[in-house]
This record gives sequence, C-alpha cells and structure tokens, in this order.
Amino acid sequence: MKTTLMTLVFILAVSMTALVSSASLQVGFYRYTCPSAESIVRKAVNKVVSRNPGIAAGLIRMHFHDCFVRGCDASVLLDSIPGSPSEKEHPANNPSLRGFEVIHEAKAQIEAVCPQVVSCADIIAFAARDSAYKVGRINYDVPAGRRDGRVSLEDEVGQNLPPPFFNSKQLEDNFAKKGLSLDEMVTLSGAHSIGVSHCSSFSNRLYAFNSTHPQDPSLDTRYAAFLRTRCPRPSSNGASRDPTLPLDGVTPNTLDNTYYKELRNHRGLLTSDQTLFDSSSTAGIVRNNILRPSTWAAKFASAMVHMGSIDVKTGREGEIRKSCKVVN
Ligand code: HEM
Ligand SMILES: *[C@@H]1O[C@H](CO)[C@@H](O)[C@H](O)[C@H]1NC(C)=O
Repeated sequence: MKTTLMTLVFILAVSMTALVSSASLQVGFYRYTCPSAESIVRKAVNKVVSRNPGIAAGLIRMHFHDCFVRGCDASVLLDSIPGSPSEKEHPANNPSLRGFEVIHEAKAQIEAVCPQVVSCADIIAFAARDSAYKVGRINYDVPAGRRDGRVSLEDEVGQNLPPPFFNSKQLEDNFAKKGLSLDEMVTLSGAHSIGVSHCSSFSNRLYAFNSTHPQDPSLDTRYAAFLRTRCPRPSSNGASRDPTLPLDGVTPNTLDNTYYKELRNHRGLLTSDQTLFDSSSTAGIVRNNILRPSTWAAKFASAMVHMGSIDVKTGREGEIRKSCKVVN
C-alpha cells in the first residue's frame, strides 16, 4: 500500500515536471516579459517589405527552412564554426535565402529593451506571419516560447529539405516525416505564389529533359520557350549566369491562390510545383484551392502554425541567444 502511494506520488511529480519543461507554445508568450517584441518585429518587417516585397518571400521561406531542419530553433541563422559549415552554407540556402538583416535588426531592437528574453526562433516565426500579412493579408496568432538551438550542420539540410525535382509522392513522404499532412503540403506550397527561383532550380526542364523529350512535357510549351529566353543553357564548365524568375508569373508579389491557377495552366515553375496538379493524389486539393481562396488562406494560416511547432525546444531546453548568429 505504502509503496503504491509512493509510486503514485512519484509518477505525479515526474509528469508535472514534464508538463513544465515541455510546456507547449503559447500565443502572447512575451505579454509580460517583453510586451513590445511582436510589434518591433512587425515594424521591422513592414519597413523592409514596403521597399522590397521579395523579402517577405525570403522570410516565409526562412521559417520553412528553419523548421524542417532540427525543428524551429533558429539553427538556420547560425554562422559556421571552424571545420563545421552551418545550414546557411547549404546550396538550398546559399545564396538564395534572404531576409537575414530583418531578423538581426529586430533582434537588436528587442535586445535593447528586453535582453535575452525573446528567442531568434520566435522572431523568425513572427516575421513569417508579418510577411504573410503584408503581402497576402493573411493574419494569424503565432504561439511562441521556442528556444534557440546550439547546433547547425550543413549536411542536415539536404537530409531534410525536399529538392525541387521531387514528385508528389516524395513530397508527401517528406512532409509526413515532419508530421504534416498531404493537404498541408499542398497548402503550404502556395507560398510559391510569391518570390523567385534561380534558373538552376528548374532549367533541367527546359533543356535536354531526357533522351526522348527536349523539354519537360508537363510544362506549357510557350511558357518553356519564354523561360529559355531568360535562363541560359546550363554550361558544361558549370560557370554560367543564374538569373531568377518569379515562381508565380502572374502575381509574384501577392500571396494568393493564383499559384494554383498557374499549375492548372501548366505554368508551375518547379517540378515540385507542377506535380501537385499532375498527380491524382493532389490535383483535387489544387482544384479546391482554386475554387475557394478564403478556405486556402485559412488553411495556409493553420498550416504555418503547425509547421511552426515542429520539434520545438521549450522550457529549459536550448537557450535564448544574445546574437542570432552565434550560440551564447
Ligand atoms: C513542397 C516542397 C518545396 C520545395 C521542393 C521547395 C523548393 C523551393 C525552391 C527550389 C525555391 C527557389 C530557390 C532558388 O532557386 O532561388 C523555393 C523558393 C521559395 N519557397 Fe519553396 N519549396 C517547397 C516548399 C515551400 C514551403 C512549405 C514554403 C513556405 C511555407 C516555401 C516558401 C518559398 C518561398 C516564399 C520561395 C521564394 C523565396 C524568395 O523569393 O526569396 N517553399 N522553394
Ligand atoms: C522522358 O520523360 C517523359 C515525360 O516525363 C516520360 O514519359 C518518358 O518515359 C521519359 N523517357 C525516358 C527515355 O526516360
């Protein structure tokens, strides 16, 4: 009897500690400890994005690249250390990932009013939300309380982020590994309604696709011809120019469902875009996102929140970095 009681007390104590240390994210997490945190981030985002809407694309993509590699822990912001290149150096991030200055600017302003309280990981999550609002009027509350990681490894990027040549099934599996559904995968791909891609991410579709097809037959012929005027043929010495083109050729600076309409027109820029319309498992989701833009926007908001919870560190895990580029 005594032992069972002791065991019960012990189990209770352990589970309560677990509750406290793995406390989940909360909306308004900095309400008392740093009330101006979210407004500082919003102002920093608005200022830069008003001048250059492409930065909104960069910040939304940064949240994705952060969360898929080691969870949303700002590992994407860490500088390399001697002998160990960080995530930033991986070709998926370097040179294309942008918006770093906005995060560092917001962090500097926040440190000036509440030192070492607000994590870099939360700043990325807030900045992604503020970007979605600025260029898409998509607004949502961001649960916060993420803690920053202390490790960032270039090799982990390739093991976790999907490459642009993946088909629908491969994308589904990749997102499932992060706990995201097929619908969330298609819904979040709608982020490609803003921003740009380098030619190198899709020029395989334009030139010498395979031995029987000079170009990818899933790409509209006239659009492919236009893209060839912009993207140089990949040169054998590897050293060719690598210009960028909008992922959504119609409304490249507005986060909306035009992206899905363009997939229906066979003008998805990446293989990973066009496959969503061309595969039977996802075509219906694309069609729904075309028919019901406000439903897509609501799904996008909740999928961003879900993505923002992947493998987060909370409570006493990780740390609150002083500078987002280096561990304390
Ligand atoms: C579904 C799998 C995905 C693949 C294969 C993929 C791949 C890519 C590639 C290759 C680029 C262009 C990089 C370049 O060449 O410059 C890109 C850009 C972009 N991606 Fe994705 N992505 C995916 C999902 C997502 C998700 C889930 C988000 C965010 C929710 C996102 C947001 C963006 C944005 C906003 C851009 C434009 C960035 C800019 O203009 O700076 N992507 N993506
Ligand atoms: C070339 O690509 C087309 C379209 O994806 C495909 O149907 C065909 O089987 C491919 N041919 C070869 C030889 O790989």
